[in-house]
Amino acid sequence: MASTAVKRSSPALPALLRKDSWWMSPMGFVALFTAFSIWVTFRAFQGDYYSTIVTDVATRLFSGNGWLIPNYLTPLYSPTLPSITLGTYHVSPALYILIFPLSFRLSCYYYRKAIYRGYLADPLACAVTEPAPLDKARRLKYNGERTLPLIIMNFHRFAFYAAVVFIVLLWKDTIDAFFFHAANQPWHFGVHVGSIVFLINILLLSAYTFSCHSWRHLIGGSADCYSCSVLARTRYGLWNKVSFLNERHGLWAMASLVSVALTDVYVFLVTTGTLRGPWV
Ligand code: FES
Repeated sequence: MASTAVKRSSPALPALLRKDSWWMSPMGFVALFTAFSIWVTFRAFQGDYYSTIVTDVATRLFSGNGWLIPNYLTPLYSPTLPSITLGTYHVSPALYILIFPLSFRLSCYYYRKAIYRGYLADPLACAVTEPAPLDKARRLKYNGERTLPLIIMNFHRFAFYAAVVFIVLLWKDTIDAFFFHAANQPWHFGVHVGSIVFLINILLLSAYTFSCHSWRHLIGGSADCYSCSVLARTRYGLWNKVSFLNERHGLWAMASLVSVALTDVYVFLVTTGTLRGPWV
């Protein structure tokens, strides 16, 4: 469909109809997402301190003192891939690994709403007038997400497929986080603080991924009749369960953002030797 500019036919909304603390949500999102972005950017370029089984880390921190060597790989560097050499510059693998999970988050319906409100003030919130100069300029050429660059958001379903692959990989990393070994000894099962950190993170990431609107549509969308066949009834049952998760999508979105960051911080602190002990 050809895109057409949308003009507001009625006067702007009153300056401030809402008397509640509507600004807390966008401001809280901006604070959290900005802190997350700064930390992840730092870590992605750092290219180090991301795995406890790198020989140097395991030897330096865990060998010779009786501590068991854990198998922790930060989600920012999973799966383990080599860095790319461009001339004299080594491109950290996190820089191309993160393209996929970040595409998923940035095209997520919840993040789009939060980013448009928190960073672009477009709109600020329901029943709150946008800053006047911005409002006037935007209304004259408002095309929603039907033209470049925002039309790219429509690729969210494909980002979801990639996210599912990453969930599988991160579940494997989580299982690995429950296995430890002494130097030159076989791996065995154990539960340390890091194991719990990884488990909480993957549970929150799974809740976020499988509460996705695209997943809900794949499960139960495009069905005209939910009672016409066994398959349709099964889809309806699954759709109800996904809908339960979906109703809390914003919660999973933010909780998993925090858990990814905290899991990475934990691995960073362990691999730098800041957190030490038989329990890490
Ligand atoms: Fe948020 Fe798909 S809508 S992850």
